[in-house]
This record gives sequence, structure tokens and C-alpha cells, in this order.
Amino acid sequence: MANPRSWLEPAVVAGSLAPFVLLGVRALGGTLGADPVAELLNQLGLVTLVFLVASLACTPLKILLGWKWPIAVRRTLGLFAFFSALAHFLVYLVLDRELALGAVVADVTERPFVTVGFAALVVLVPLAVTSTKRALQRLGPRRWRWLHRLAYVAGVLGVVHFFIRVKKDTTEPLVYGAVLGLLFAVRLGDAVQKQLRQRAARRRTLS
Ligand code: HEM
Repeated sequence: MANPRSWLEPAVVAGSLAPFVLLGVRALGGTLGADPVAELLNQLGLVTLVFLVASLACTPLKILLGWKWPIAVRRTLGLFAFFSALAHFLVYLVLDRELALGAVVADVTERPFVTVGFAALVVLVPLAVTSTKRALQRLGPRRWRWLHRLAYVAGVLGVVHFFIRVKKDTTEPLVYGAVLGLLFAVRLGDAVQKQLRQRAARRRTLS
């Protein structure tokens, strides 16, 4: 029988490409506003954060609702988070800073919001590199799972980067932060429950 969810992955890829296509259309049509580079930069930053949160929501959805399908698209969403972060960085490097590496280094070392954004991108690199089945086999599931918890670190850094950048109205970054906090709380609650169940089972076999 054909895989009943064979349409899921292509649908998620198509949906994930939509914001990039839309931004491309706006760029070509000259409808990015008075400061197209800033608009492109900000939109790609937001898209990155949405992909990060979406990829981090997959496991909590399985825990809370028993759905298995989010796990099948978690890797794709995580890779989209990485590639949009890279696109965001490249727009900053090439269009905003016009490849002036000295200015980029000064920004990364002296402007806290850029430092934090850069750190988020750096954290995403090992996750993207180890996203293959082969890397999972090489690292073993335990080490792989530990490493991939760094996705939460990237999410927190992304939110802090956004929070410092907005200066006045911090509602939007705080909403992303609250969602991340909830997702983390679900994971933590699940881990604690598993520990308690394991301990109880051990006690039963000993008595
Ligand atoms: C996971 C990585 C990252 C995430 C989630 C992220 C997210 C964001 C968000 C949400 C915004 C603001 C959008 C808005 O105000 O509407 C933004 C703006 C910006 N980000 Fe990032 N970012 C990341 C990495 C980086 C990196 C690596 C750099 C450069 C080294 C960078 C530089 C900037 C700049 C220059 C702006 C625009 C600031 C302005 O217009 O004043 N970001 N980013």
C-alpha cells in the first residue's frame, strides 16, 4: 500500500518555499517599500523564527495530542530554519553591509543584537550538518538527541536577538518567547514523567 502520508513532505516543502517566493516576487516587482534591504532582512528574520518555533513544536504536538505526523516533517522545518537564517545573514552581509568584512566583524563584536543573532546562526550549523540519517547513526541516538537540544538554544538566541532589536514595542518577541517557553515546558514535563515511570518500574522489579 502507498504511504498514506506521501503527500505530507512535498506539501510542507511547497508551503515552506512560499514566503521565499513571495519575497522574490515583491523584490522583482519593486514592492518591498522605501527600504527594500531592511524589509528583506526583517522578513527573513521573522521567517527564520517561525521555522524554528514550528520545528520545535513537532515533538510537543506528539506528546500532547499523540500525533505522529509532525515528527515526519520536523527535519524539513529545521532545515528551512537553517537555510532562512543563512539567507537572512547573506542579505545582511551582501546587501546591507556590501561585503565590508571589517564592518561585519565590528557589528558582530560590538553590537549585542548582531552578536546574539550570529550566535544563533552558529548554533544552527551543527544541527543542519547532523540532520542526515547517516549522522544519526554515526553519533548514536543519545548523543544525537543531546546535540539537537541545541535547537532550543538557537530559538532563545533568536528571540533575544529580536527583543534587543525592536527596542520599543517588545510584544512580538515576547509572544515568540512565551511560545518557546511553553514548548520547552511540555518537553520538560514529559522527561520528568518518563523518569518517574522508569523509577517506579525499577522499584517494582526490585521488590
Ligand atoms: C537564528 C538566527 C536568526 C534569527 C531567528 C533572526 C531573527 C531576526 C528577526 C526576527 C529580526 C527582526 C524582524 C523585524 O523586526 O520585523 C531580525 C533582524 C535583523 N537581524 Fe536577525 N536573526 C538571526 C540571525 C542573524 C544573523 C546571523 C545576523 C547577522 C550577523 C542578523 C542580523 C540582523 C539584522 C542586521 C537585522 C535588521 C536590523 C534592523 O533593520 O535594524 N540576524 N533578525
